[in-house]
Amino acid sequence: MARSSSCFYMSRHLLFLYLSSQPISAQHNLSPFAKPLCLEDEMYALLQFKERYEINDDASGDPLAHPKTLSWNNSRDCCSWDGIECDENTGHVIVLDLGSSLLYGSIDNNSTLFQLAHLEKLNLSDNHFNDSRIPSRVGDLLRLTHLDFSASVFSGPVPSEIFKLTSLVYLDLSAPDTPTNLLEMKAPGLRSLVQNLTSLEVLHLGYVNISSEVPNTLANLSSLRRLNMDACDLHGEFPSAVFNLPKLRHLGVGSNKALTGRLPDFNSSSPLEELRLSGSSFSGELPSSFGILPSLSFLDVSDCNFSGSIPASFANLSNLECLDVSGNPFAAQSLSSLSWIWKKKKLATLDLRMINLYGEIPPSIGNCSRLVELSLLGNQLSGAVPSQLMNLTQLTNLYLRMNQLSGSIPSWLMNMTGLAELDLASNKFHGEVPSSISQLQNLQVLNLARNNFSGTVELDNFLKLKQLEVLHLSSNRLSCRASSVNVILPQLSVLGLASCNLSEFPAFLQKQEHMRSLDLSDNNIRGEVPPWVWNGSFDMQYLNLSRNFLTGLERYHPIKPLLMYTIDLSHNMLKGPPPEATSSILSYIVSNNSLTGPLPPWICNLSSAITLDLSSNGLTGVLPVCLGDISKSLMVLNLKGNNFHGSIPELLVRATQLTMIDMSDNQLQGNLPRSLAHCKMLEFLNFANNHIVDTFPSWLGSLPELHVLILRSNKFCGVIKRPKSSSTFRKLRILDLSSNAFLGKLPMEFFQSWNAMKSKTGNFTYMQRTLRPSLYLPFTYYGNYDFSMTVIYKGLKLYYPKISEVFTVIDLSNNLFKGEIPSVIGDLKGLQGLNLSSNFLTGHIPSSLCNLTALESLDLSRNNLSGQIPRNLQ
Ligand SMILES: *[C@@H]1O[C@H](CO)[C@@H](O)[C@H](O)[C@H]1NC(C)=O
Ligand SMILES: *[C@@H]1O[C@H](CO)[C@@H](O)[C@H](O)[C@H]1NC(C)=O
Ligand SMILES: *[C@@H]1O[C@H](CO)[C@@H](O)[C@H](O)[C@H]1NC(C)=O
Ligand SMILES: *[C@@H]1O[C@H](CO)[C@@H](O)[C@H](O)[C@H]1NC(C)=O
Ligand SMILES: *[C@@H]1O[C@H](CO)[C@@H](O)[C@H](O)[C@H]1NC(C)=O
Ligand SMILES: *[C@@H]1O[C@H](CO)[C@@H](O)[C@H](O)[C@H]1NC(C)=O
Ligand SMILES: *[C@@H]1O[C@H](CO)[C@@H](O)[C@H](O)[C@H]1NC(C)=O
Ligand SMILES: *[C@@H]1O[C@H](CO)[C@@H](O)[C@H](O)[C@H]1NC(C)=O
Ligand SMILES: *[C@@H]1O[C@H](CO)[C@@H](O)[C@H](O)[C@H]1NC(C)=O
Ligand SMILES: *[C@@H]1O[C@H](CO)[C@@H](O)[C@H](O)[C@H]1NC(C)=O
Repeated sequence: MARSSSCFYMSRHLLFLYLSSQPISAQHNLSPFAKPLCLEDEMYALLQFKERYEINDDASGDPLAHPKTLSWNNSRDCCSWDGIECDENTGHVIVLDLGSSLLYGSIDNNSTLFQLAHLEKLNLSDNHFNDSRIPSRVGDLLRLTHLDFSASVFSGPVPSEIFKLTSLVYLDLSAPDTPTNLLEMKAPGLRSLVQNLTSLEVLHLGYVNISSEVPNTLANLSSLRRLNMDACDLHGEFPSAVFNLPKLRHLGVGSNKALTGRLPDFNSSSPLEELRLSGSSFSGELPSSFGILPSLSFLDVSDCNFSGSIPASFANLSNLECLDVSGNPFAAQSLSSLSWIWKKKKLATLDLRMINLYGEIPPSIGNCSRLVELSLLGNQLSGAVPSQLMNLTQLTNLYLRMNQLSGSIPSWLMNMTGLAELDLASNKFHGEVPSSISQLQNLQVLNLARNNFSGTVELDNFLKLKQLEVLHLSSNRLSCRASSVNVILPQLSVLGLASCNLSEFPAFLQKQEHMRSLDLSDNNIRGEVPPWVWNGSFDMQYLNLSRNFLTGLERYHPIKPLLMYTIDLSHNMLKGPPPEATSSILSYIVSNNSLTGPLPPWICNLSSAITLDLSSNGLTGVLPVCLGDISKSLMVLNLKGNNFHGSIPELLVRATQLTMIDMSDNQLQGNLPRSLAHCKMLEFLNFANNHIVDTFPSWLGSLPELHVLILRSNKFCGVIKRPKSSSTFRKLRILDLSSNAFLGKLPMEFFQSWNAMKSKTGNFTYMQRTLRPSLYLPFTYYGNYDFSMTVIYKGLKLYYPKISEVFTVIDLSNNLFKGEIPSVIGDLKGLQGLNLSSNFLTGHIPSSLCNLTALESLDLSRNNLSGQIPRNLQ
């Protein structure tokens, strides 16, 4: 049937209106020249579509979102409805634009939407389809040129029917972040898409889980203007021909860690304006041909693998507004060698963090007067901050953290009133923190931690900053004072006052309601933790009260917030049972207190824990079997220095992350759990001073990373049999089997396989674990967790709070070993301490011991050795 007559449609429409007994509005009495009205079957389809959705204010993210469908009713021509356009000739609905319309509800194949067969543009972006799958009937809308399903909470596979829509020029299935985009388009999805949708000009797939390589045929999409595939889990080599697509203006393939690639030489006719590769694994050098890209204004190649240096040709990029080259392994260069940067008059964002820059900040920085954001964080810059910086009157964000900058806080800084974020932490700044800092009324973030600032700080002064959210003064030589509670306070989310000479909890904490991170460690705060410290803790993710003189937690309830990640109450005087933590906890550290009682049952719920440290308390009872169930993500388990008894549960079968177990100084009995052999990442094992009865655990020899094995003062016994494999305990550097009842000959074959001990060089810095930072904090918090241990060295019992240097010791003293000292021991050239005393060894001292040139401590006393002491040992 020919569908060209608008009259035909009008008559059908009138019929519908008649049947539904609606008043015929004036609009319908139209002259024959008027535009056609919408078709009632399509109107009906639209109304049915509308009926299926709630209007929900949370369904759209755009503050300007409004419910377009609310105005839809059949008293008006549907072609005039909000979000609808019709074909001028046929009256068919050709555009349905419901972007940001607050729609909430699901969609499926039966949606009446698919009756709108003439649709050319369909926009459902920024609504909430409640994790629906994209209905495959979208593939019936063969006339579609524009399809926008972005940020609308779809999930599941992208139906292959979409690839039938060969007229598409615009396809957007992206979302702003992972939790809201659960769409996937596994192979051969991307390949089929690229093969069929050859007219695409805009392709946005950000955060769609594609998990495949990028087909070379992507470079055939010659009409592409915008391509975004951020965070699609792409891997393999990115086809470099894509960079030279003749119309491409915007390209983003960042946050694909496994995506490699190189940048080609660019062509001066390239219209490229924006390039984002941040957080992928592109490598090689930045081509100097970048300099010829006339339109390039936005370049973000941060956190890739680019090497070499930043090409001087960048000087020619006259339109550059944003330059982020941070976090690449460039060769060290002085900041002054990048003098061209300060001539970039349009530059608003400059991020040079962590790229090995040294030297001083040049005065010419003052030329870059449009800069809004400047980061030089994490370099080796030194000297004072030049006063020309005050010329940057637009500057809102200044990050100079982690350099070696010195000098005092300049007074002109207080004139930079536009500053919202000022981060000077971890430098060598000194002097007083001026009270005039309260002139920076727009400050939201102020980080002065880890410098040499001194003097007394009135916190009230900072609390005048109404926008302040993050205040960090920790680890200087400051004395902090807080008095007023009555002023209207800013609501802080991060407060760091570690080592600030506080003797009480600052009273203004009582009025804080959104605190996410609170660090009051290393002060002189005494007594009970008052309940109001917890009052505002609903959002608390990081709480550090360690190293004070706290005695209790008054009216303490388990830390309620769902996202509590780190709680550190160590080195206080807390009594009673361990304070309860909830299952979200990642790091639970209550060591060095006076906690008593058994491990409470809620311990079994801490299934996300990475660090559990309850060491050096007075805890008693047996270890619950459930420790095994929660050890899946555990890296550090430290129960040392308590009074636990009973056997060690078979706890660690799935514990493949565990790197450190310390159960020393308890009353534990029974065998070593054999399941330890599954913990492939174990580096450190300490069971000293218990009552463990077992033979030598040669079955631990296959652990590839084991560096430290301490079994001192237990009831281990028997002969150490020759190892089954010649490759055993290869990385061992510290072995302490002293004060047990081992028998027989010294384990010569083991000595031969201890490769690590044969080398003098090595590195124990990995023995420090980084606690997981609180993910959503404006500042990432890395607390360090150090592996500590006690060894007997040079006759002294030494406590090592950190194992940060190479340290290689064998202590087999006070056992029942007999026979000769095998000369192969001379192969262990890295050995610094060797203690074989108090055994029943006989024969000569082998001259090979003279080869142990690193040896600082040797004890062979209380044996039955005979003969001469080799000359070089004397
Ligand atoms: C239909 O919409 C118009 C305009 O939005 C409104 O004035 C009218 O009251 C609505 N009619 C019905 C029946 O909802
Ligand atoms: C779809 O709607 C959103 C929100 O209103 C808008 O930002 C976007 O540009 C629209 N998409 C298309 C293809 O017009
Ligand atoms: C959204 O999905 C949830 C879970 O499937 C369901 O309980 C809820 O009723 C859905 N809401 C709507 C409006 O469809
Ligand atoms: C779609 O409609 C048909 C017929 O009305 C019905 O049998 C079927 O269950 C519906 N499917 C869904 C997913 O609602
Ligand atoms: C829609 O129908 C097709 C077959 O017609 C089916 O394969 C698909 O699973 C259905 N559901 C969705 C959500 O696409
Ligand atoms: C590609 O498009 C053709 C024709 O429109 C269609 O028959 C074919 O199924 C599409 N391929 C895929 C993989 O969807
Ligand atoms: C300050 O900025 C202006 C441009 O706004 C520039 O002309 C002047 O040279 C700059 N002064 C310094 C000291 O960098
Ligand atoms: C700060 O600004 C005021 C007013 O503009 C000016 O008088 C003063 O000299 C400036 N201070 C510094 C240190 O530049
Ligand atoms: C020690 O090991 C760490 C981590 O593997 C590494 O980053 C560091 O460079 C090493 N230091 C030395 C001196 O080898
Ligand atoms: C010391 O080591 C060298 C080579 O490493 C070896 O040749 C020599 O025999 C050793 N000396 C003794 C006394 O074992």
